[in-house]
Amino acid sequence: MTENGKTLKKIPNIIIEPPGPKSRSWHERAVRHMRGYSNQVKQFPVVWESGHENTMTDVDGNTYIDFSAGIYCNSTGHCHPKVAEKIKQYADKLMNCHDFTTPVKTLFLEKLASLLPGSINGIQLYCGGSEAVEAALRAVRVIKGGKYEMFSFWGDWHGKTMASMSLSSLGNEAFGPRAAGCHLSPVPNCFRCPFKLKYPSCSLVCMDILEGTIDNEGTGMQAAMVMELIQGYSGTVTYPDEVYKRVEDICRKRDMLLVVDEILTGMGRTGKMFCCEHFGLVPDVITLGKGVGGGFPVSAFAVKEEHAWALEKASASTTYGGNPIACAAGLATLEVIEEERILDNVNTVGEYLKGRLSELKEAHTIVGDVRGRGLLLAIDLVKEKGSNEAFADAGKMVYEKAFAKGLAWIPAGNILRLAPPLTMTEELAGKAIDIIDEAISETEKHYGIN
Ligand SMILES: Cc1ncc(COP(=O)(O)O)c(C=O)c1O
Repeated sequence: MTENGKTLKKIPNIIIEPPGPKSRSWHERAVRHMRGYSNQVKQFPVVWESGHENTMTDVDGNTYIDFSAGIYCNSTGHCHPKVAEKIKQYADKLMNCHDFTTPVKTLFLEKLASLLPGSINGIQLYCGGSEAVEAALRAVRVIKGGKYEMFSFWGDWHGKTMASMSLSSLGNEAFGPRAAGCHLSPVPNCFRCPFKLKYPSCSLVCMDILEGTIDNEGTGMQAAMVMELIQGYSGTVTYPDEVYKRVEDICRKRDMLLVVDEILTGMGRTGKMFCCEHFGLVPDVITLGKGVGGGFPVSAFAVKEEHAWALEKASASTTYGGNPIACAAGLATLEVIEEERILDNVNTVGEYLKGRLSELKEAHTIVGDVRGRGLLLAIDLVKEKGSNEAFADAGKMVYEKAFAKGLAWIPAGNILRLAPPLTMTEELAGKAIDIIDEAISETEKHYGIN
């Protein structure tokens, strides 16, 4: 088999039942110290040795097709030579100089600004997604003269710092109350409508409720709506196209800012550089992370030119944000995305995958929904055809069976998330779907479903 012109060994190549003995041993030693791993790791504790383009190899020598991209990060495939080279170059040259400018930082900022939609060109750089969201929310307060009330949808995920977490759904008892002024409104999730209505006959009642939430929960300090354009963590939840315009209008009518969190959807993942471009939406503020650094920790938020004055007051000073290695990784990643026409690949392979996923939906009783855009896709498992009753046990089984056959991917209860590197080939994508198909058939058999 060849991939990107290179001859590769058999892919996937499972030589010992995973997680193998070396994986188990390394993982056991790690969890003596570090607890709180994600379910993804707990369910299948392989320990990774290396990644190459669209594959990953564990410490036992098993090679998997990668349908996780770290966690939506490896936009240019694992260890892209140009990105790796730039990182190595700056590791030898200059690792940190606080928030001083470096040539590579200037080049990265210029490149990013040239790609951002509309007049968005005021940028601050950080390392993680939550940090970028938190900083964006600080900037919103400045832009809005101290107004602090923010709104988002049920099921949104914006991070683990206090404000970002307060606009997210997936907390647990350890998190306590939300930060003051943070409110969530019912999500326009048509597959699992909170009002059990059907689109379009529902007339998007959820948008009326959003207006009600903003007007009734708000106390005159309404500052912004913060949204994921496709909910990632909640299972690639997509909305009808008209939702975006409605949300934008709701914000404009109230002189509120629209913040779109593109940490997961940005940098080509959905087939356009930024997901908002699908809907002709130009937000006031955009947050970026994950794919920006091709796997290296790089994040940012950016605002429209008219709001850029506020960045002076929402200080950009941070220990690691915009460090030379991160900027080198970011610059190289953006250049590779352009030079290698990676968006074209996302659209071609994404279309192919959507076709194959539709076939899975036709063929399998427990596949209730398949959805997504570009290479941000999901399979939603249900207990009965035509219902939307989540089948989480089946989700766990399909995830584990497919993983054991050589597919590294991302579970979320009944929802299986497909997020390969943006360089994924159609050949490997086809093999991945064959594996999923087999894993679903075996799971249906296990539950006596045909
Ligand atoms: C949409 C979105 N925003 C913010 C975050 C937080 O990013 P990080 O985990 O890098 O802090 C995530 C992480 O999954 C995300 O998906």
